[in-house]
Amino acid sequence: MGKVHVLNHPLIQHKLTYIRDKHTGTKEFRELVDEVAMLMAFEITRNLPLQEKTIETPVMESQTQVLAGKKIGLIPILRAGLGMVDGMLKLIPAARVGHVGLYRDPETLKPHEYYIKLPSDIKERELIVIDPMLATGGSANDAIHSLKKRGAKQIRLMCLVGAPEGVEVIQNEHPDVDIFLAALDEKLDEHGYIIPGLGDAGDRLYGTK
Ligand code: PRP
Ligand code: URA
Repeated sequence: MGKVHVLNHPLIQHKLTYIRDKHTGTKEFRELVDEVAMLMAFEITRNLPLQEKTIETPVMESQTQVLAGKKIGLIPILRAGLGMVDGMLKLIPAARVGHVGLYRDPETLKPHEYYIKLPSDIKERELIVIDPMLATGGSANDAIHSLKKRGAKQIRLMCLVGAPEGVEVIQNEHPDVDIFLAALDEKLDEHGYIIPGLGDAGDRLYGTK
């Protein structure tokens, strides 16, 4: 079964509080999501392999380490996942970015895929699926199935806030996928919203509604 990692770093938790606050406006919300995505990227890249490199410091020759060049792909789920991409690219600028377009039907809560465009070499990349919200898990589950159908082998899922219901769906359907969250919330309400949550992530990021 995939592990759930809740990233309890104080900076992440502090910023998440203001992301959740309904008095936080669109501009600040967007900036905070970008910052938290960058901090989460720092945590999620802890496993990246290193290789030896010899350099000359101003004082002497030194054996040091650099990234071994593992190929990474970021896969935001449109539209809200886009809000986390730039923050992650600040730390991993060489990552390729693929897009999966899904929207959740407000009545049935079932996801509908309307767009997909991926790097041609996803089979060789470690993919990080990004979406601020893991609610029923339907959207992330569909996105991961779509990636696997196209040959993806290594996938991780990164969300700001998850509900236990969504975590269970991903763990059952994709036991090979680890989940990284800034917070694991209590449950879903009768409309499929995460509580306490942060509301509709896409609407708050883009000022729609
Ligand atoms: C939201 C969110 C996730 C999905 C989570 O997207 O960004 O993609 O709902 O819910 P689930 O786990 O129950 O599937 P939404 O469908 O509102 O689309 P948007 O990003 O375009 O606003
Ligand atoms: N999608 C959101 O944007 N927020 C939720 O709480 C659930 C699904």
